[in-house]
Amino acid sequence: MQALILGSGAMGLRLRDELTAGGHVVRAMLGRPGRQPRPEPATLAPIDMAFEFSHASSTIGNVRFALATGCRTVVVGTTGLADPGNGPRALDTLARDVGARIVLAPTFSIGAVLFGRLAEEAARLFGRFDAYDPYLLEWHRRRKPDRPSGTAAALASRVLPHLPSKRRARLADGTGAPDPDTLEIVALRAGASPGMHLLGFDADGESIELRITARDRSAYVAGALLAAERLLAGPAAPPGLIHFETLIDDLLTEPTRPAAEAPQPDPSKEDLHALVA
Ligand SMILES: NC(=O)c1ccc[n+]([C@@H]2O[C@H](COP(=O)([O-])OP(=O)(O)OC[C@H]3O[C@@H](n4cnc5c(N)ncnc54)[C@H](OP(=O)(O)O)[C@@H]3O)[C@@H](O)[C@H]2O)c1
Repeated sequence: MQALILGSGAMGLRLRDELTAGGHVVRAMLGRPGRQPRPEPATLAPIDMAFEFSHASSTIGNVRFALATGCRTVVVGTTGLADPGNGPRALDTLARDVGARIVLAPTFSIGAVLFGRLAEEAARLFGRFDAYDPYLLEWHRRRKPDRPSGTAAALASRVLPHLPSKRRARLADGTGAPDPDTLEIVALRAGASPGMHLLGFDADGESIELRITARDRSAYVAGALLAAERLLAGPAAPPGLIHFETLIDDLLTEPTRPAAEAPQPDPSKEDLHALVA
């Protein structure tokens, strides 16, 4: 694919490396608007796919720039977008106006998307038993400017409706014990952690924990590339905004590999099969 990258920070650089390594052509990677003169959009055509990972204040301008090249498929990962202005509705309108498709996600980590579903199911199960007290813990690098993380906030609002014993979720602060009907969110800031989220349920005799730990940005890059591939190869969705979760839903409902292609049982493991039968 012929790609355009908007945002030349950590994500932009990683995307450029992955695209190049995969044999794609990065026509341009553009940093903060106004820092350097930008080329005329038409001179970059043809662009198959634009990736927008910059800053919320630049996203709409960047997407307009991408569309002005004639590109009609865009992956947007910048966080902090909100309507009215630069949120999902604004992006949807931009896309529909020119017949483009834009995939948006606060996280392109496939693991994080699936983790959200596991968390919701866990809350549905454990929420039936008052003995299991739920809690949320997240850990990010010391310099992260906000807390709780967007992912922790999203997890809290996802699990809360399934926890009859909890009326609200709140960032742990102060020195006293929290109200029993509060879901505690603990935001730890230390070191260089790119992100850890943990949903736990604690009872007298046992503790159950679901945890997702990011090691670096590669999971986000992989998800952004998957979104791009699906946009370019998949059955054409109507113009407008597409949420990454929807693409994952489509993927999950696709048939799995036919049995003929599945790996055959290893005969050397037959004894083991007998042992556990
Ligand atoms: N959806 C996901 O899966 C996912 C994953 C990771 C990150 N993100 C989000 O993607 C965005 C970029 O992440 P990153 O890790 O690449 O960030 P970063 O390293 O800080 O890079 C940000 C880039 O945006 C540019 N920029 C444009 N307008 C800006 C402005 N008004 N203020 C500050 N910077 C501006 C920066 O320009 P300069 O180089 O001139 O500073 C830089 O090129 C962030 O919103 C981040 O939260 C999303």
